[in-house]
Amino acid sequence: MTDLLAERERRVQWFQEARFGMFIHWGLYSIPAKMEWVRSVERMGPEAYREYFDSFDPAGFEPREWARLAKRAGMKYAVLTAKHHDGFCLFDSKLTDFKATNTRAGRDLVAEYLEAFRAEGIEAGLYFSLIDWEHPDYPHYGDRHHPQRDDEAWKGREHRWERYLAYLHGQVRELCANYGKLPILWFDFSYGEMSGERWGASELIRMVRSLQPDAVIDNRLEASGESLGSMYSGHPTEYAGDFASPEQIVPPEGVTDVHGKPLPWEACVTMNNHWGYSAADRQWKSPRQLVRKLVECVAKGGNLILNVGPDARGRIPEGSARALEAIGRWMSRNSPSIYGCGNARRPKPEWGYFTAKGGKLYAHVFETPIGSLCLPGLGGGKIARMRLLADGSELRENEAWNTKLFKDCAFVNFGEPAELTHPLPDEDDTVIEIELA
Ligand code: GLC
Repeated sequence: MTDLLAERERRVQWFQEARFGMFIHWGLYSIPAKMEWVRSVERMGPEAYREYFDSFDPAGFEPREWARLAKRAGMKYAVLTAKHHDGFCLFDSKLTDFKATNTRAGRDLVAEYLEAFRAEGIEAGLYFSLIDWEHPDYPHYGDRHHPQRDDEAWKGREHRWERYLAYLHGQVRELCANYGKLPILWFDFSYGEMSGERWGASELIRMVRSLQPDAVIDNRLEASGESLGSMYSGHPTEYAGDFASPEQIVPPEGVTDVHGKPLPWEACVTMNNHWGYSAADRQWKSPRQLVRKLVECVAKGGNLILNVGPDARGRIPEGSARALEAIGRWMSRNSPSIYGCGNARRPKPEWGYFTAKGGKLYAHVFETPIGSLCLPGLGGGKIARMRLLADGSELRENEAWNTKLFKDCAFVNFGEPAELTHPLPDEDDTVIEIELA
């Protein structure tokens, strides 16, 4: 194994044990409340967008409340947008005036977030946009995404890439040098020519590694939600990143490199359909769906980072808060089947998933069986002991007259007698902890 890969393995260890995190997309765009791309989608000029800078006043920003909610949900880490594509900085960058410190908030909101999450024992990381629609030296006219991409008035306006690169590197240095230990850095994103060395990625990553040797970094210095970058090739560049970042999808078979070797990955997923606050989007995913998707990620060897988009006052929307509380109730009883768990290397059972850790298997049962539940591949004395994970109660392997045909299965019931159908103790996901013989 090359040093690069060995280093990656060392760094991602805690991350792969943590499995569940909170993404936080927050910035000026919470005022128009049409998600974080509003500046680009509506092709807003700097003057129009300035309105949100002038009126940004998040009086309800209580990062300790966010952190406590994340903790109750069972999330072990968090990632906040220190700067998104609109260029607005929640941190006190010395390199721009376009920052929270100069709004009515008047404070370094990144520093407050970090302090609050750390105080709750949550690994607090930062998202940083490589793209910047505020900086005059970022390519504008003719760019793929810039708000002024087709505004003739911007055609031919001078912009100097080296100046933007110095700004980008300078801000990343500020974040890495001034905010203590950052467990995660989430760069976003590369597209077309704007990738890898175009960002000065080798130099950037060396600087980051010198200041934050343990930071776990995503793969978007050379990729995006659409692609994996060189980590896929099995010969990663030094800025290939530590984990893949599939977006709004749970990869069908987890994520592997070209040789089929599993890669660390994290699915980033919204709780409604947008990252940044969207007042009209009330399409909340149900706690049941989210619990099951978390289980699916873990069963496929990955993480789930679920997003919240606080509103213009700085509050996490009710729809997300409610779902997070419900996920938390499930986690409070079942998290041993998530933390430190991974792919059980068994065929997927019909009724749900297996996750595994050490000598233990966790059967996540989503579907109520008729009569006895078959645990495939576990028949013939392979099980030493079974417990309902939620309450520790004993579950016994049983045989009924109608199970005898199926030697490959161990059978289990959630009530007596064995041949009757019983409702699942938890209809979202009933977890059986199985110790193998
Ligand atoms: C995207 C979007 C962005 C969001 C991110 C999260 O690439 O540009 O708005 O922050 O994905 O994964």
